[in-house]
Amino acid sequence: MIIAIDGTAGSGKGTLSKRLSKKLNLPYLDTGILYRKVAFELFKKEKKTTFNFDKDTIKLMIEIIKSNNFVNIKKNDFLRDDKIGLLASEIGKVKTIRTHLNSMQIKFVNDSVVLKKGCILDGRDIGTIILPNADIKFFITASPEVRAKRMLKEKVNANLQPHEQKCMFNKYLFKINERDDNDFNRKISPLKKAIDAFEIDTSDLTPKEVEEIAINKIYKKKT
Ligand code: C5P
Repeated sequence: MIIAIDGTAGSGKGTLSKRLSKKLNLPYLDTGILYRKVAFELFKKEKKTTFNFDKDTIKLMIEIIKSNNFVNIKKNDFLRDDKIGLLASEIGKVKTIRTHLNSMQIKFVNDSVVLKKGCILDGRDIGTIILPNADIKFFITASPEVRAKRMLKEKVNANLQPHEQKCMFNKYLFKINERDDNDFNRKISPLKKAIDAFEIDTSDLTPKEVEEIAINKIYKKKT
């Protein structure tokens, strides 16, 4: 079974994908990590996070893609960094880079189908561009406020004073809106719900509840 999961940053699509991967014993690819890897390697080389993506920068990114290992990338704190996330989302607007990263994703799908008869991919354009014929598609959302709260909980230690927490919350909310704006409004492969995707708003749900909703849909689809 091939499962496509798309959604906004911090919506819980990664959590759902990992849980489904374990439950259904299917290989999982977090496609965002491919964009983050290019972003991080570019940052390492150029020591900056803003680019106008001219010919030379695109050439450099292609060299990065060709000379680095993009298989089984572990999402460490460097890749998780918000600046790298935002740069990844800028890189996501560059057609040539998408074409290279799309080929990697298709290879992962083909290999997984041979080995495990299926897989799970999560990202922004999975149900629309990468896997238009997926057996089942999910579109995961949550309100920006809930996503900012989740990020705050994940990244900030609990000893902050209330006014510091409020300040961090506002910072995360700003970042989330900035990234949504990039992802929804870019010309190439924007984040979009495929017409045949099931939407799950995770704002008021636990990860287990989200998993149960998804599993029910998957089982219904199978029978
Ligand atoms: O999912 P994650 O937040 O790690 O993705 C980082 C960025 O990479 C996203 O904001 C998005 O712009 C880009 N991306 C993409 N297409 C995908 C996955 C991620 O454009 N399939």
